[in-house]
Amino acid sequence: MEFTFNINPLLSDEITIIDSSFSNLQKFQRSSYDSHRNNLMQVIDNMGIASGKAQALPNAITSFKRLQYSDHRLYVLKDAFANNAWITETQADPSSMQGAVVGILKMGRKKLFVYDMLGKQHEMEPLCVLDFYVHESRQRHGYGKVLFEYMLQQEQVEPVHLAIDRPSPKFAGFLKKHYGLKDCIPQMNNFVVFHGFFRDRPESG
Ligand code: ACO
Repeated sequence: MEFTFNINPLLSDEITIIDSSFSNLQKFQRSSYDSHRNNLMQVIDNMGIASGKAQALPNAITSFKRLQYSDHRLYVLKDAFANNAWITETQADPSSMQGAVVGILKMGRKKLFVYDMLGKQHEMEPLCVLDFYVHESRQRHGYGKVLFEYMLQQEQVEPVHLAIDRPSPKFAGFLKKHYGLKDCIPQMNNFVVFHGFFRDRPESG
């Protein structure tokens, strides 16, 4: 997704992790802070809206405001070398690229009652995948895997130990293809967990 402003100073890494502290804004001076904050709001809100639309949800589940009042972490993947808004390709200069946002992945813990294979209920607070979206122009090119792998490494979690909030058919295909996750344990809520969810769980849940 492209914007009318340069996203590269805002999202300095290929994958930036944003939480309610919005620490990626702290480097900006007072004079430009508000405009960068507005730009970040546009990035998060527009990606949230696009994700909601892609999942046919009535409302976006990711927004700047929601992130501000949560303990969630939003992983944002960018392509720094996209969106050369100013000059022709023959004059291409990497420093003139405004960048494009490729995808988002929102993670957080939720208090859930999770049923095991024997139908016994467990009250727990597992790490959950809350929102996952790769821009339509970039889907099925491996970007989702890049984002997901980075998250697994940062969160120090195995895919099988995650709870997934209403996985779409595309995400279900993704989990099956990349991580062999296909057999679910039936639950009474919208979250999906797979066989192996209860095996070798770390103390933290
Ligand atoms: N149809 C079926 N399977 C798909 C599709 C599709 N259109 N797109 C991706 N997949 C699955 C397939 O298994 C595919 O492998 P294949 O091409 O060999 O069949 C695999 O994902 C591709 O892996 P990546 O390229 O790494 O994934 P991608 O960059 O496409 O990202 C994602 C996956 C995030 C699910 C993306 O397709 C997307 O944004 N979809 C629309 C929004 C969505 O459904 N998000 C998940 C909602 S549920 C939640 O957030 C908790």
